[in-house]
This record gives sequence, C-alpha cells and structure tokens, in this order.
Amino acid sequence: MNTLHRQRRRRSSGLLPLLTPLVVGGLVALVLGVYGRAHTPTGFAVGVAGFSAALPMKAWLTTGSFVLAIVQVVSAMSMWGRLGIDIPPGVHRWSGRLAFLLTIPVAFHCLYALGLQYDVPRVLAHSLLGCFFYGVFTAKMLALPKQDVPGWTLPVFGGLAFTALVGLWLTSSFWFFTAIGVKV
Ligand code: HEM
Repeated sequence: MNTLHRQRRRRSSGLLPLLTPLVVGGLVALVLGVYGRAHTPTGFAVGVAGFSAALPMKAWLTTGSFVLAIVQVVSAMSMWGRLGIDIPPGVHRWSGRLAFLLTIPVAFHCLYALGLQYDVPRVLAHSLLGCFFYGVFTAKMLALPKQDVPGWTLPVFGGLAFTALVGLWLTSSFWFFTAIGVKV
C-alpha cells in the first residue's frame, strides 16, 4: 500500500470534507434526471463509421467502457496493495479516463434522443443508473484531490461508480446482445 493512502487515512477529519463532493454529485444526477424528463426526446441519431446504427454503436462503446472499468478495479486493488502485484498508477488513471470518455457520446444520445423513460422496468433502472453514474463519478473526482476525506471515500465512490456502470451495461448492451444479437 503506497504512502498516499496511509497519509490520507491519518489526516481524515470526519465527513465534513465530503459535503461539497456529495452535494455537487447529487445535483449532477438530479439535473440529468430532470433534463431527461423535461425535454422532448428528439430521436436524433448519428451514423458512426463502422456501425450499422446508433444502437449497436452504443452497445459496443458501453462494452468498451465496461471492460476498461474492470481494468480500473484491478489496478485500484493493486494501488491499495490487495493484488500482490504492482500495476503502475497510470493504468488506473488512463483506463478511468477512457472508460468515462466512451460513455459521453452514448449518454448524450440517451438523454438527447431518448430521455429518461420508465415504461419498462429495465429502461427505468437503466435511466436512473445513468444519472447516478455521473453523480457518483463527479463526487469521486471532487473528493480525489482532498487530503482530509475519510480513507474509505475513494474505494466506496469508485466501487459505486463501477457498480452503476455494470448495471448500465447489463440493462443496455447485454440486453441488446441477447435480445437483438451480437452485431455492429
Ligand atoms: C444519463 C442518463 C441516461 C438515460 C436517461 C438513459 C436512457 C436510455 C434509454 C431510455 C434507452 C432506450 C432503452 C430501450 O428502449 O431499449 C437507452 C439505451 C441505451 N443506453 Fe442509456 N441512458 C443513460 C445513460 C447511459 C449511459 C451512461 C450509458 C453507457 C455507459 C448508456 C448506454 C445505453 C445503451 C448501450 C443503450 C442501447 C441499448 C438499449 O436500447 O437498451 N446509457 N438509454
């Protein structure tokens, strides 16, 4: 376990330093949800080279993000000394950045073209997980530079973001690949 995490644990001063990350993260999730409900879905779809339509494109980009998120978790375990091998911290940083970036065009299409829908339990769960994912990701990024947050903050926020992404993948890409087929 590298020194960074031991120092952080020693200097934690309770939950107060978490207030801003939690409030801003909560607001991000809320604003995405309200926008997803309030605006009229446009049905807008972009054609992306190599994909036959927006749906398979979204299913594969989300799968890419899901795989990178697994790299994130494994590299995080290494950073916390739980893996027994040392993976360079850069792997965690860059797999996280790429995993997040891959979700942006997908979520843009979801929110702008489709909106927050709740007619089917799968789609309701998916829509809420989408808003929660960006909220908890925001909270993690705001807590990251803070030296005085509790030692459990990053593993818990990171774990929640990963769980939300797994849920997003199961309620969309996995559904697409099993209900429609594995196609591009
Ligand atoms: C931010 C809030 C989000 C909302 C409100 C939302 C909403 C939706 C809705 C209503 C659909 C259509 C579902 C259907 O009829 O089958 C959909 C599809 C999809 N969404 Fe999202 N989504 C969000 C975020 C995300 C994110 C972050 C990802 C990926 C990381 C994602 C991946 C997908 C994929 C792959 C599909 C196509 C497969 C499908 O139709 O289920 N969504 N989304």
